[in-house]
Amino acid sequence: MSDENAPIAAEHAPAEDKTTRQLRKSVSAVPVPEDAIGGCAGAHKRFVEEGAQGTFFMRSAPVPKIEPPPPVPAQPLPGNDELYVICEKRDLRDRYAKSFPLMRYWDDGKTRPWDVFIGRMGKTYFAYVNECPHTGGRLDWEKNNFFEPNFLKTLMCGKHGAQFDTATGVCIKGPCEGKALQKVEVVIDEDDVCLTGVNLDLDAQVGEAAVDPNVDTVLENNGFKLQSTKRTFSN
Ligand code: FES
Repeated sequence: MSDENAPIAAEHAPAEDKTTRQLRKSVSAVPVPEDAIGGCAGAHKRFVEEGAQGTFFMRSAPVPKIEPPPPVPAQPLPGNDELYVICEKRDLRDRYAKSFPLMRYWDDGKTRPWDVFIGRMGKTYFAYVNECPHTGGRLDWEKNNFFEPNFLKTLMCGKHGAQFDTATGVCIKGPCEGKALQKVEVVIDEDDVCLTGVNLDLDAQVGEAAVDPNVDTVLENNGFKLQSTKRTFSN
């Protein structure tokens, strides 16, 4: 059996060039003290032993800057099952829609304006956030004019003319074709048109309705203040 630890025969050892041989000799010639200490402590010990004057500095690698995580942006609070009475059925004639400047709760404890429009097509009522998916601007091309004026069959954005299906909110013609308005759930409760699945601030006075001279009679009469959240929708 062969001895694995036996030195390699000289004739099989790789040849060592002259430079490597000299380097190996010079390294092995440096005496290593028995009490050698490495790192900062060793460097400082040698600094003191050599009788150096002044302040001892060790240059360390720069500490990487740790960026704090970006703050999580506030989000609207999830909706609930309550019915928010917005207006009466008779306030919305056929092929007509009007905007309601609501206030919605956010998870940072604040309330923020939230403009929703409710419309009627025949006997069907619908509601969408008043925000065009093209640029995010308001949809009504004049105050409470949401329908395409010639045929009154689709909703139309006043800015670049995108047209939307009233039932789905999907843009069927225009620069944001295929995108959709944000739908809000409507519930008809007897004569009331209500929104549900949202989280609204009932106490917020809607300033725009109070000061805008162009608001229609419903807004002026009611001061557009939400009436109740006490009724809970049941299937
Ligand atoms: S902003 Fe509505 S179509 Fe451009």
